[in-house]
Amino acid sequence: MSNRQNTRILVTSALPYINGVKHMGNLAGSMLPADVYSRAMRLLGHEVLYICATDEHGTPAELAAAETGLSVSEYCDKMHEAQKAAGANFKLSYDYFGRSSSEATHRLTQEFAIALEANGFIEERTSQQVYSVADRRYLPDRYVEGTCPNCGFESARGDQCDNCGKLLDPVDLINPYSAVSGSHDVEIRDTNHLYLKQSDMSGRLRDWVETHRADWPALTTSIAIKWLDEGLRDRAITRDLSWGVPVVDADGKVRAGFEGKVFYVWFDAPIAYIGATRDWAKETGGDWEKFWRLDKGAEDTRYIQFMGKDNVAFHTLSFPTTIMGSGQPWKLVDELKAFNWVTWYGGKFSTSQKRGVFMDKAIDIAPSDYWRWHLMANAPESSDAAFTWEDFQASVNSDLANVLGNFVNRITSYCVKKFDGAVPAGGSITEAEKWLEAELDERLPRLVEFYEAREFRKAMAETRAIWAAGNEYLTQAAPWTHYKSDVDQAAMGVRVGLNLVALFGVLAQPIIPDAAEKILAAMSIPEENRTWNFRGGESCMNALPIAHPVSAPPVLFTKIEADDIDAWTERFGGAG
Ligand code: 2FM
Ligand code: ZN
Repeated sequence: MSNRQNTRILVTSALPYINGVKHMGNLAGSMLPADVYSRAMRLLGHEVLYICATDEHGTPAELAAAETGLSVSEYCDKMHEAQKAAGANFKLSYDYFGRSSSEATHRLTQEFAIALEANGFIEERTSQQVYSVADRRYLPDRYVEGTCPNCGFESARGDQCDNCGKLLDPVDLINPYSAVSGSHDVEIRDTNHLYLKQSDMSGRLRDWVETHRADWPALTTSIAIKWLDEGLRDRAITRDLSWGVPVVDADGKVRAGFEGKVFYVWFDAPIAYIGATRDWAKETGGDWEKFWRLDKGAEDTRYIQFMGKDNVAFHTLSFPTTIMGSGQPWKLVDELKAFNWVTWYGGKFSTSQKRGVFMDKAIDIAPSDYWRWHLMANAPESSDAAFTWEDFQASVNSDLANVLGNFVNRITSYCVKKFDGAVPAGGSITEAEKWLEAELDERLPRLVEFYEAREFRKAMAETRAIWAAGNEYLTQAAPWTHYKSDVDQAAMGVRVGLNLVALFGVLAQPIIPDAAEKILAAMSIPEENRTWNFRGGESCMNALPIAHPVSAPPVLFTKIEADDIDAWTERFGGAG
């Protein structure tokens, strides 16, 4: 493990939409695993750049701004800060949290479109769209409602009828009206848009996805292949809106006929991964090209994306079409980790129906470490995962408080009380130490492998098993029993126990960074000794020098009580 080659790794997590606070499922399916992974890879000595940003364009942003009475740009400024603060509360270790509305992303989006058109992958076409006279805007499909031509349901949405499930074209709705204002004063108008010719890229995309069958999770490849098998459709990448990236010609002037139009939010959002990296470079003096340009070193970069399953098609088909079609040496994603949903007791999260906890409130009721541990230990990797308060309580009380917290407090307090808060010398190796060494020799490399493979549930289970092995060791070594008759042998148990505390603190850093910090501070472990450079179980058991000072950390985890669950169920919903 120690001579593992250092790699340059670019990590991005799906960009959260600007409007609204994210719920715990959103956090669990993109930003949190990206953070845990980035932290682990940094500890292993890799050069990591973790980039995220707010996804700020599109109709929902415009409408949400209108509701608050702010201009869209003021609204985005405010919400960007709110989302940044929410990320900080959950200790998300972004190297940069940018904005898709930045100048760099605007320029890149326009440059990509110009290159794509020059290469024949963009075409201007005329289509029909519903225009609301009262709202003075074209209505995106889901903002048109009317009677379903299939079943007669009177509140069918323009994109799909919720009653019969049929996919619809808004111009086919009977008696259409605007879902924005309710006005029936709507017209069907011709409008020109740019189309990304994804169909022409199908062959190359399929070949590329096929090369990743072995190394991408099945969830990712199956979604991409399903779309390819169904036949890729060309997509309109512009919209009749004013908020977004303007459509320009090579001279920078608005394209004729595209006044009042901007790029579709899904065209510019992934480009913002690059734009935000450029913004990071501008702010820090870093080199963005070695992450993104194959001709400037990015061939040696591993690019890993994290996202929920609904984003997979955009990242395996649309964005790669943009990259490949540009004909320029941009970096494509190497590995893509997709997640299923976290559900709220099996159903959807909803603020209006008081179902589920959102990032702003979650932090008020429990520390970020509790959420981070629970969400990662139950990551929705192979299927959807239902959040319940009871499971949350069990994760915190059993894994964190009983298995980890008690171990740390018990052995450090004992050292303070009986050995003057200094790592004691003495004792000889017994079966207990031999057993522990074998456990660590087996488990530590496996833990690292799980992190490298981004198998979060397995990495958390292995971490827990290492904590449990520590408890088992103390039961076997029983220093408190030995103390009366053989202080040296008690010292052995305490010394190994303290080394385990330090190891647990080091291992806890990617998952529960606050507790890790408290443990490592109490153990006086300097920054440079907190990295992951495990040289076998034996060295982990003897890492602390004799007489190294040790104190007992403050209580690490407070148990969740039945009353807490009752109060939270009342406030956020639950089984009751
Ligand atoms: O689904 C979403 O929340 C989108 N805002 C994700 C965008 S990811 C990327 F492409 F920017
Ligand atoms: Zn219908």
